[in-house]
Amino acid sequence: MTAQRRGISKNPESSAIENKIKRGNAQRQASSWRGNVITLLLLTGVTGLVRWMYFTWSDDLTHTLVSRSEIFTQPRVFTVECSEDYMKYKLFPGMHPFIEVHSLNTGVFTGNYYYYLYMHKYMYILLLFHRLAERGLSLAGSDGASILDLHSGALSMGKQFVNIYRYFKYEIRDVFTEEDFELYRDVRSRIQKVIAETFGLDSKQMYLTKPTFFSRINSTSAKTTHDEYWHPHIDKETYGSFDYMSLLYLSDYGLEFGGGRCVFMDPSSNRTVEPCTGRVSFFSSGSENLHHVEKVPWVRDMPLRCPSHVTPIMPLITPPSRRIHLAQRDR
Ligand SMILES: *[C@@H]1O[C@H](CO)[C@@H](O)[C@H](O)[C@H]1NC(C)=O
Ligand SMILES: *[C@@H]1O[C@H](CO)[C@@H](O)[C@H](O)[C@H]1NC(C)=O
Repeated sequence: MTAQRRGISKNPESSAIENKIKRGNAQRQASSWRGNVITLLLLTGVTGLVRWMYFTWSDDLTHTLVSRSEIFTQPRVFTVECSEDYMKYKLFPGMHPFIEVHSLNTGVFTGNYYYYLYMHKYMYILLLFHRLAERGLSLAGSDGASILDLHSGALSMGKQFVNIYRYFKYEIRDVFTEEDFELYRDVRSRIQKVIAETFGLDSKQMYLTKPTFFSRINSTSAKTTHDEYWHPHIDKETYGSFDYMSLLYLSDYGLEFGGGRCVFMDPSSNRTVEPCTGRVSFFSSGSENLHHVEKVPWVRDMPLRCPSHVTPIMPLITPPSRRIHLAQRDR
């Protein structure tokens, strides 16, 4: 009886256990399937994301190298691979092809324009410098990009250039004072010093070369090819004469104007430098620094300043052979 009971009870018990085991197995199988499904979905999700990112980015891979609001405590150096065209040029000891981005708010100028407007002496210098540029550029100008070269006196006027020293003769004394020229030399030599220090060069062996100018870009479309500032170019090929180029921005990207970023067109991506007041960007002039300036779609009226994208552009030269030639010509 016990045996029978056992026998009887064993059968339903064992079948219950078997069922449990079967169910367990089925559940495990199902859950492992679910696991696979989740992994698969996740994988598809990840590959989808990667593909989406790839397609979105590969359309135009643009990376911000330096954003407007970034403030540096140290000069920031971005190295790029030396281009082969340097085989054609005379290299002098210590010359490195660099993209160099440096904010003068360390050491030379400091702070953010809006907070330090009258508080900081360097910002005051920038303000004066900006006003100097605006005064000169307001004498004439062109649609698109206007240029003022204080050295040669060249100023854009409609579709041509005039020499301000001849064209405006005596009036020019009311526009620029001796202090303005002093300020110009001061700012210029500060920039030159920062470049020399950063590259480990002797600033006395660096010569400012042509063309050195203030540039103002506005949103009116260009009428002549001179004013088409947005074309990609290599400085060495376009201008021929210089080795380093520097830009000091006197206005702020996104606040005073749109576009106008300097775009370095590297093979893998476009890398942008956003202008901000007081930022100095300098780089070697070979094909490693193929770049262009974005079109400026809008400028905003600012109460204190003329709306514009104002940048003094200061190319520097250093190789000894050309240095002597230029130094003689400049004298
Ligand atoms: C960089 O920008 C230019 C023009 O805006 C574009 O033609 C080019 O495809 C871009 N390069 C990359 C790698 O995205
Ligand atoms: C751009 O500058 C030119 C020349 O100074 C001027 O005639 C034009 O009105 C300006 N455009 C804007 C939108 O300020």
